[in-house]
Amino acid sequence: MATTQLRAAATEPQPAEDIAGVELRGVTRRFRSSRSGEVVALRGLDLCAAGGEVLAVVGPSGCGKSTLLELLAGLGDPDEGSVAARGITSREGRLAACAYMPQRDLLLPWRNALANAALALEVQGVAAGSARRRALPLFERFGLGEFAGALPAELSGGMRQRVAFLRTLLAGRPVLLLDEPFGALDSITRATMQEWLAEALATEPRTVVLVTHDVREALYLGDRVAVLSPRPGRLVAELCVPFERPRPRRETVTDPAFAALEERALEALEAPR
Ligand SMILES: Nc1ncnc2c1ncn2[C@@H]1O[C@H](COP(=O)(O)OP(=O)(O)OP(=O)(O)O)[C@@H](O)[C@H]1O
Ligand SMILES: [Mg+2]
Repeated sequence: MATTQLRAAATEPQPAEDIAGVELRGVTRRFRSSRSGEVVALRGLDLCAAGGEVLAVVGPSGCGKSTLLELLAGLGDPDEGSVAARGITSREGRLAACAYMPQRDLLLPWRNALANAALALEVQGVAAGSARRRALPLFERFGLGEFAGALPAELSGGMRQRVAFLRTLLAGRPVLLLDEPFGALDSITRATMQEWLAEALATEPRTVVLVTHDVREALYLGDRVAVLSPRPGRLVAELCVPFERPRPRRETVTDPAFAALEERALEALEAPR
């Protein structure tokens, strides 16, 4: 018998009704460029994340993962279908509900770590000093206290990603949209960061849409994993992950149920279209 704690219900994520969820229904998104003509990034995509759920999204490069986060974040509208956060489909509604951590960390090189994170509050009109005072406890709580004064160039890749994540958290939104948050890291740092993120989400529950190209990362962090087809991206498989979060890494990744899910996800990714 595997030692990892299985949920009683085994298939159902445990949503927190008071946290906003997100939903895409029949979403098609096209781009037009003078060079390559029309590109259909997403076609007829249905996807949702319930309040407090971590939905991991995997799919081949170029299948529209960043595009779907941009739509959720309110940075664009679909050509067909609807995108909603907390049931509100307007761009303003999505902008208000979601904090977006883009694929690159985008820290300002001239601001120290604390000032970079505090930016999330400053853009909401909080004065700089007060924003930094509010950001500091989060740095201490998540193990970055002694690096608050460091410039991005003085931080390791993992630390920069943590600062970028804290900035996303500080925005105070119920929904976090994370695009390949650990994509640029080596595998050891990546594993440490995954555990750190799992702990952070246990302390600060949010609805999360996590884009990654790493199936193991998706299964380790997600309540549910959505597998997208090559472009145009649409849903080809959806897997429920039956382990409580946060999860002990070794026990989880060596559990036969985890290996079976990994196999199913890889099959769905590799299936001919
Ligand atoms: N602003 C844009 N203008 C034109 N084409 C775009 C634009 N944004 C995305 N695309 C195209 O849409 C498709 C999906 O892009 P997207 O960045 O969403 O993919 P992705 O799944 O995030 O890829 P990756 O895994 O490499 O990050 C690609 O073919 C891309 O070239
Ligand atoms: Mg992308």
